[in-house]
Amino acid sequence: METVRITDVGRYVDQEVRLQGWLYNRRSKGKLHFLLIRDGSGLIQAVMFAGDVPADQFEQADHLGQESSLRVVGTVRADKRAPGGYELSVKALEVIQNAQDYPITPKDHGVDFLMSHRHLWLRSSRQHAILRVRATIEREIRGFLDGRGFTLIDSPILTGNAAEGTTTLFATPYFDQTAYLSQSGQLYAEAAAMAFGLVYCFGPTFRAEKSKTRRHLTEFWMVEPEMAFYDLDMSLRLQEELVSHVVQRVLKQHADDLKTLERDLSKLERVEPPFPRISYDEAIEILEEKAEDPPRWGEDFGGGHETVLAEQFDKPVFVHRYPTKVKAFYMKPDPDRPDLALCADLLAPEGYGEIIGGSQRIDDLALLEQRIEEHGLSREAFGWYLDLRRYGTVPHSGFGMGVERTVAWICGLHHVRETIPFARTLDRLYP
Ligand code: 4AD
Ligand code: MG
Repeated sequence: METVRITDVGRYVDQEVRLQGWLYNRRSKGKLHFLLIRDGSGLIQAVMFAGDVPADQFEQADHLGQESSLRVVGTVRADKRAPGGYELSVKALEVIQNAQDYPITPKDHGVDFLMSHRHLWLRSSRQHAILRVRATIEREIRGFLDGRGFTLIDSPILTGNAAEGTTTLFATPYFDQTAYLSQSGQLYAEAAAMAFGLVYCFGPTFRAEKSKTRRHLTEFWMVEPEMAFYDLDMSLRLQEELVSHVVQRVLKQHADDLKTLERDLSKLERVEPPFPRISYDEAIEILEEKAEDPPRWGEDFGGGHETVLAEQFDKPVFVHRYPTKVKAFYMKPDPDRPDLALCADLLAPEGYGEIIGGSQRIDDLALLEQRIEEHGLSREAFGWYLDLRRYGTVPHSGFGMGVERTVAWICGLHHVRETIPFARTLDRLYP
């Protein structure tokens, strides 16, 4: 007899199979036990009739606690009324462990309690749906870039310098030096782009963010494509195609999960290129009219500002050419207006804020040296990065897309903490 996963039972109708998993829920009525079993691939109701199983097994089922681990043997029945379309008529039950007093019950628990039990919370249907969508998002990002001739080049986590500002660095002793956890793989991706043309890195990044917002984690995953010979416009076209591809694939592959999450699909169905583009100057005008506390020209936008801007459009919107002053040292100034950077943020609809930040990079050695100096960064630490402008410099662009904010938006979640298996925030390092 075959041991099968619940997702595959449709291929075994009227056949006897063995399932193994955990007890999600149990109801009993006289001579019947209804065991709702999950195995990670799906849920199935196993119906146990007293006359079909040995008496001691029927008795055992009466005392099984939620999340008990078990194996059952039974016949697969097609049943339109059953969730998933199939049921199992049980012939034998083997209890691996009878778990008692599982802490997460169907009653409402506070978020803090659930986050402290994240190692168990992962088993709940909502969390399961979110993390399945996340896995698909990561797979489709890779698939899209691999299909376009990009090479995956992993960047280091332990680094000797800041990439995105010195205020959010995590430092760690490194023998007789200090190392920093990578804030971004970009600078290494730039080196790789000069070797391979089209590259991306995809891994965890770290920011010692002191802010407790629904969009910030201290450890998050980012995909960072870097493209030799791309200007900002070419990069934006790639970004809108990547984002649309990911959204459309999730819609196609995760109808059930999005339903579990009660996601409004109409808002996602619209996500197709081209996305609207507005300049920072235009964004300021919109905010002066619509925002309660509009920023002054020259200031960066806050989360509230991003929400107001995104509300003006029914698709993600690019805001391009921010003032050079508020952006990273490596961004190339617009030759027509050097006070602006050739950069863009992609703001997701429905208040999810910036999901992509990107720019064309400075390709001129002297200017890059000047910027490193102005930002108070160490020239020695950046020697290798400056070499890229010494030996065959070319125009190039890249961007970073945050996985957690993208998952939050696509799944329609209030907070990024549920988008990553084990969230790291200002006040959470457990579990
Ligand atoms: O805008 P950021 O800081 O850009 C960079 O790191 C560039 N080096 C990327 C590049 O050009 N290669 O971050 C990029 C994205 C943001 O748009 C956001 O989605 C995500 O990373 N992000 C965060 N996500 C969760 N928590 C945080 N603390 C985040 N900081 C940035
Ligand atoms: Mg940014």
